[in-house]
Amino acid sequence: MYDVSRSTALLRRMRQCDALVGARPGLFFTGYERLNGNPVFVEKAQGPHLWDVDGNRYLDFLLGFGSVVLGHAHPAVNRAVEEALRSGVNPTLLSLTHLELAERLVELIPSAEQVTFLKTGSDAVGAAVRLSRAVTGREIVLHWGGHGWHDWCASGAQGIPKATTEMTVALRYNDIDHARELFARHKDKIACVVMMPYEIQAPEPGYLQAMQQLARQHGALFVLDEVRSGFRIALGGAQDYFGLDPDLTAFGKALANGHALSVLAGRRQYMSQILKLGLTVTYYRSPDAMAAALATLDILQAEEGPARLAHLGTRLMNGLGAAIRSSGVQATMVGFPATPFIHFDYTHPNENAAAMRQFCNGMLRRGVLMTPAHHWFVCTAMSDEDIDFAIEAAAEAFADIRSTMAQC
Ligand SMILES: Cc1ncc(COP(=O)(O)O)c(C=O)c1O
Repeated sequence: MYDVSRSTALLRRMRQCDALVGARPGLFFTGYERLNGNPVFVEKAQGPHLWDVDGNRYLDFLLGFGSVVLGHAHPAVNRAVEEALRSGVNPTLLSLTHLELAERLVELIPSAEQVTFLKTGSDAVGAAVRLSRAVTGREIVLHWGGHGWHDWCASGAQGIPKATTEMTVALRYNDIDHARELFARHKDKIACVVMMPYEIQAPEPGYLQAMQQLARQHGALFVLDEVRSGFRIALGGAQDYFGLDPDLTAFGKALANGHALSVLAGRRQYMSQILKLGLTVTYYRSPDAMAAALATLDILQAEEGPARLAHLGTRLMNGLGAAIRSSGVQATMVGFPATPFIHFDYTHPNENAAAMRQFCNGMLRRGVLMTPAHHWFVCTAMSDEDIDFAIEAAAEAFADIRSTMAQC
């Protein structure tokens, strides 16, 4: 009998004292969960699994919003961090770990002549935008994708001056004509194009290259937001995978297997002007997260992490695809293998939302944690058997959806 009563009781207490948890209707994303009946409090996380405080085990496809690329509590990463902790977490001066990580990233990332460290993905993309504005003397930013919560990009947020919001203009993905129109409209006021290289949909052949060229042609910087794609689709990021040559790039998430660390990387001609940003660095030099990053990169490299993620994700997508076909539910597997997702294809949006909720709730009860609101992630700690476990759970969840839909 699936029971999350302890989690639910703790959540009631948490909602009184934590404003963000208290204000959200669901745990992570609006519409994700109803209050009762879902795991909320974690007891421990190990490898590809989480255990909630009620003792239920889940195969985890959320993975710290994609940051835990090797699986939770990876022993080699833990050892590296423990060693760094013994030498002090914020010693103010530069550390050897910092130097080694900077050199490693310059070697690994095709467009990185220099790097600088920050803490979050929002920090790194925000710094790229400010640097683009500082070096071009222009203010408008064309962007595609989600880049975090900072003022320049937080969509739908309140409390941001209108003048700031008006400086950021959204591109339509895979639509080069739209980008041309925006360049024509804003002429020489565009500081940079900031893009995730992909999310669910793959780029049309030549699209990302054309965006890069268009930005350059108009004297704007081409900035890749590789916070999600970095160290996941390829060790050198999507720029390596798609053959791009960005001026600046932001990385985060998979870099340090869940430890807080992000990187702004780019051409020396721009990175050398970084003092213009007024970056302050109380925590940016903490060697513990940098040690985690070095260990993570070692393992990703030694174990061919991106290829392993692609293998696991492909197995999941193929298995779920087959289960969709044999169950007769209307759904399609979408996304890249390392970041797979499902779309339900019923005619009414409400039916799709209901099917998605039923699917994710059905998976939870069978020990698989997947969100309906965001693509999922796989980690290298998953085995083929883990993926097959998820596929079997999905086959049962699809059968339930099929019978619910048949009754509608
Ligand atoms: C592509 C992308 N950029 C930036 C961010 C912001 O990163 P963070 O949450 O670490 O600030 C995210 C977070 O999900 C992201 O996916």
